[in-house]
Amino acid sequence: MTAAVAIAHPNIALSKYWGKRAGEGNFPAVPSLSLTLAGLSTKTRVELGGRGRDEVRINGALAEGESLARATALLDRVRAACGNDARAFVESTNDFPTASGLASSASGFAALALAATRAAGLDWDSERVSDLARQSSASAARSIFGGLVELAVGERSARALLPASAVDLRVVVCVTTEERKAHGSTDAMRKTAESSPYYRAWLERAPVLHGAIREAALAGDWIRAGALAEESALAMHGCALGAGFSYFRDASVRAIDAVRTLREGGARIFFTVDAGPHVKAFVSPEDAARAAEALALVPGVLRTIVCAPGEGARVEAP
Ligand code: PMV
Repeated sequence: MTAAVAIAHPNIALSKYWGKRAGEGNFPAVPSLSLTLAGLSTKTRVELGGRGRDEVRINGALAEGESLARATALLDRVRAACGNDARAFVESTNDFPTASGLASSASGFAALALAATRAAGLDWDSERVSDLARQSSASAARSIFGGLVELAVGERSARALLPASAVDLRVVVCVTTEERKAHGSTDAMRKTAESSPYYRAWLERAPVLHGAIREAALAGDWIRAGALAEESALAMHGCALGAGFSYFRDASVRAIDAVRTLREGGARIFFTVDAGPHVKAFVSPEDAARAAEALALVPGVLRTIVCAPGEGARVEAP
């Protein structure tokens, strides 16, 4: 038996990924740029030994169907790489809502990729672990690294652009539900590509916004980066809505209005939304506490969490 434990944080994209390139390998159709968050974590322990079906527990519940199949697919790649066909026992826990658009697949597959490779005795560098994570969830490739992270089109791995300490932002997460989301993002992306009349426009617009967000962020212009991040989120959601996917709920719309009101009042704050109803606000460190307090009062917002830029995935003693 060999075991390893890894911790990874979710990430929130300033420049969104939505849509996959045709063909195998789970490559995004557009580039993306994200901030890894401290304060929210997935901890995953992988133990390899014996024969038989993998056993995967997520927050104490035995995974079945699609979520077991996705974990096993990653574990199969690790087994193929090390030439060992041992069964895996996986225990993964999140300290935030799972599968509800709070980027649990990003931290989940990042932690699983790192723990599984280490348990198998593979001493892979971060790029290789990121490539493994990307094949399960492209956003997970980004959670291997800390700070500001890019996943470029056609690249196998994500890469860090700025360390956490150089990112002058906080993220206020407005939790609007503890429930799982209705549509997995892989399926939603496929249907968007097939049927949204705005998909072609998204494929043209996303790289342009990405380049501008990247440039603003590298110049330390977080106001411009935040304003463009709103554009990226709205373009992504407009495109998904064209295929029938509406992730916004009443509370999401109210929280977005509250972000705009805070901004009119002088706060440096910008919203984003992923494939779920939660709103996340990119906010200057000075405005973060006040924004978190105001957003917690929005009807339908259950609680707010303030996250600083965080580090990449790491191994812990088992
Ligand atoms: O990699 P997935 O399947 O978790 O897709 C995530 C897509 C978004 O969160 C909506 C956007 C992004 O870039 O994180």
